[in-house]
Amino acid sequence: MASHHLLLLVLLAMACCHAIASDPSLLQDVCVADKTSPAHVNGFTCKDAKDVAAEDFHFSGLHKAGNTSSSKQGSAVTAVNVAQIPGLNTMGISMVRIDYAPSGMNPPHTHPRATEILTVLEGSLFVGFVTSNPNNTLISKVLHKGDVFVFPKGLVHFQFNNGKGSAVALAGLSSQNPGVITVANTVFGSKPSIADHILAKSFQVDKATVDLMQAQF
Ligand SMILES: *[C@@H]1O[C@H](CO)[C@@H](O)[C@H](O)[C@H]1NC(C)=O
Ligand SMILES: *[C@@H]1O[C@H](CO)[C@@H](O)[C@H](O)[C@H]1NC(C)=O
Repeated sequence: MASHHLLLLVLLAMACCHAIASDPSLLQDVCVADKTSPAHVNGFTCKDAKDVAAEDFHFSGLHKAGNTSSSKQGSAVTAVNVAQIPGLNTMGISMVRIDYAPSGMNPPHTHPRATEILTVLEGSLFVGFVTSNPNNTLISKVLHKGDVFVFPKGLVHFQFNNGKGSAVALAGLSSQNPGVITVANTVFGSKPSIADHILAKSFQVDKATVDLMQAQF
């Protein structure tokens, strides 16, 4: 009897964790985000179905290159998620265009809510992600036009333009709102700062080195 109860608990636990491994599944055809609603839910409330229109599912301009001079790393991300397309609410999917200047990069970051699948449209990229503790294995590859690479959900990853010209990539992400945590910005650029003696001990360097890192943000 007890073992039956244990089995049931294990099955329930599996069902629970499977269900929360991506954005929640749909309970209706569409749930276009009503960003004016004062109600707070996981995602956005749905606007009245009679007010739903093509424009709720549309974005224009992804053919335009982002301004890679506007970041110190020489890259520009044009995001197309629920913030740009309200019809993506509850759909568990979004996309980005990324432009890279020569030697530009998209610095190490993670998406807490999405796996990413990226393809190179122009140029070539050195890309990689690092597995979690304790191994921290770097899985990396040079990609050329037409190549596709996957960055698993939650893992730290980057892309570096190792070609001669500029590069362009398009990526799909398995969340309406993938989120971005850029490692350097969060660790060295938080507001207020994480105390330098804490970061010095974390990174096994002296406080002056930490202060120099923090001064970049
Ligand atoms: C690109 O960004 C740089 C730096 O912010 C700015 O000076 C420049 O005018 C921008 N270029 C365009 C085309 O918007
Ligand atoms: C992690 O490293 C350990 C020790 O080298 C090894 O036994 C294990 O297979 C590795 N795990 C993975 C997932 O690579």
